[in-house]
Amino acid sequence: MEPSPIIAPSILAADFARLADEVGAVEGSADWVHVDVMDNHFVPNLTIGLPVVESLRRTTEIPLDVHLMITDPDRWAPGYAEAGAYNVTFHAEACDDPVKLARTLRDAGSRAGLAIDRDTPVEPYLELLPHLDTVLIMTIKAGFGGQKFLPEMLDKVRDVRRRITAKGLEVRLEVDGGIAADTIEQAAEAGADAFVAGTAVYGAEDPAEAVRKLRDLAARARAWA
Ligand code: DX5
Ligand code: ZN
Repeated sequence: MEPSPIIAPSILAADFARLADEVGAVEGSADWVHVDVMDNHFVPNLTIGLPVVESLRRTTEIPLDVHLMITDPDRWAPGYAEAGAYNVTFHAEACDDPVKLARTLRDAGSRAGLAIDRDTPVEPYLELLPHLDTVLIMTIKAGFGGQKFLPEMLDKVRDVRRRITAKGLEVRLEVDGGIAADTIEQAAEAGADAFVAGTAVYGAEDPAEAVRKLRDLAARARAWA
């Protein structure tokens, strides 16, 4: 049986002054909590880092899905695994040897993910899939929440899904950026099975209900399964 869709609310769209409450609002509905770490170098934006992940780990049972939009992930990523992150995703554009870093992350106790930004082709990385637990295809340009979903990124999702299926791999295929009720079905049809949603969850009246609705839509749209 295919695994059920993962919904990962991004706290980038939450109220940072009330993070514990905001994460608590999706406890019992969210599968993962997505934590966007930005360093003002790899992307122009600056967000949060390791101390916040350490505090969140003590605050919630929900697995933390850390998305590192930083330069030099070889130096910084293992700390997030040691802090108890469930999955640590670093960017292909920032890393010379993704297989080596993935191995380090797994040794440090987390799953390992590779992110592909908007302007990066996925082909060179398809061979690396057996060494990864997650692949994150950006459906926007990394750096800011609230951007418009780019459907042309779904060709990359299809390419990765084809390879996962052909090789029988257990890799989660995640999409990030502009995922909402009006876009999640096309992403699921293309082959995604993990969905980051910031604005669509934390901009909703009832974040937990928004998560459930997104999961239902994704589950029904899984043409690839
Ligand atoms: C942006 C981040 C996303 C962001 C998505 O670079 O990686 O995770 O929070 O936000 P929405 O869902 O609002 O597009
Ligand atoms: Zn993200």
